[in-house]
Amino acid sequence: MEKMWAGRFQKALDEKADDFNSSLRFDCRMYAQDIRGSIAHATMLAKQGILPKDEVELIIDGLTGILEDIHTGKLAFDTGAEDIHMFVEAELTKRIGDAGKRLHTARSRNDQVALDIRLYLRDEAEKIVALIQEVIKAVVDKAEESVDIIAPAYTHLQRAQPISFGHQLLAYAMMLLRDIDRIKDAVKRMNFSPLGSCALAGTTYDTDREFVAQKLGFFGATKNSIDGVSDRDFCLELMSAFAILMMHLSRFSEEIILWSSWEFKFIELDDSYTTGSSIMPQKKNPDMAELIRGKTGRVYGNLMALLTTLKGLPLAYNKDMQEDKEAIFDSLDTVVMCLEVLAPMVATMKINAENTYRSAQKGFINATDLADYLTKKGMPFRSAYKIVGQIVAECIEKNFVLDTYPISEYKKYSELFDEDLYGEISLETCVQKRNSVGGASPKSVREQIAWVKTQL
Ligand code: ARG
Repeated sequence: MEKMWAGRFQKALDEKADDFNSSLRFDCRMYAQDIRGSIAHATMLAKQGILPKDEVELIIDGLTGILEDIHTGKLAFDTGAEDIHMFVEAELTKRIGDAGKRLHTARSRNDQVALDIRLYLRDEAEKIVALIQEVIKAVVDKAEESVDIIAPAYTHLQRAQPISFGHQLLAYAMMLLRDIDRIKDAVKRMNFSPLGSCALAGTTYDTDREFVAQKLGFFGATKNSIDGVSDRDFCLELMSAFAILMMHLSRFSEEIILWSSWEFKFIELDDSYTTGSSIMPQKKNPDMAELIRGKTGRVYGNLMALLTTLKGLPLAYNKDMQEDKEAIFDSLDTVVMCLEVLAPMVATMKINAENTYRSAQKGFINATDLADYLTKKGMPFRSAYKIVGQIVAECIEKNFVLDTYPISEYKKYSELFDEDLYGEISLETCVQKRNSVGGASPKSVREQIAWVKTQL
């Protein structure tokens, strides 16, 4: 395929160099956005009297035909093309002749590609927000199921305090809501049109950049033409939001992996989201959760790769910037895959209330509540804390738990101990009474569920 820029050259591009240079195999996914942008540009050119109306009509019809033909599979991408922008323009000229050659008036591929990525990422970000919402819904459903399920919560992965299991699940809903917020915030700054920045210095044509921006649903046009073509902050911001999102998904996955181990058995994953072993017949492995945890690495890597590519780049466009696409597309695809598999995996997992309760009974997770019992009867918290620590040590030695330790033994430590302590330190009481705002009680969990629903 002859290059559009061939005029200046005596020799054709080397075959390997041509292939190396081409971005079509990955930027072809932006074809709809490229065509949408071109239609807006052509419409503006007609409105401003820069191109005759009849030619612009031809251009728009031609572009609409190309869009349809790519969509239905009638038109295949020519792998010899340098990029999606060149491909569409060449195809247009093939179809409508000279009018096609006029489309690139008052435009450069530098502002065109900057526009296309913004349009593409804006569309994709919306899909990802919807997918995160699906995960949140699954989490909220599970939380609703487990409001009254008592489980131990951990610090240092050591049993710490009793909670409603739904409370722990909802922590993930809160994290995911912030992820949505971050993505929407990144889109807000992304939502300005660089088209009309041209190569880097704007143009001598009387263009109407705000008209194009408005036609394409942007808040407005970017304010500096050099920045317009050089800026990839919006890619980085979105990739940062994705990296944080994946960090959340990997923490959730890690807990799912732990919870489904024989050591915990707090949950059982559905068969459709687990795999077997080629040698060990008994195995049921949480591969999907492990893959989500594992894929987090590549999403971090993509962010670091693009940051490094952009570091120290002089203004304005440099071909290095073509590297933005594979990085962000891979992050996008990875995030989509992970969210699509996580939502139904959470929705179908079964919570084993007997096991969470049994684990809550061990590990002295009501020790804080016993100290609070003494404190509420007037003892300073630090003194109560010390006494309870000594009682715990004694219980461990004599093979008791706090709930079974005789009152006569308690009384040796303090006269403030009475029969009512057993009711006060029962797991049910400990959980029920954690009613502080955002606390672990069923009442608080129900309030959280209601609030999360208002955010969806
Ligand atoms: N394929 C290029 C990219 O993705 C488009 C911009 C090319 N501009 C240029 N002056 N070579 O970045």
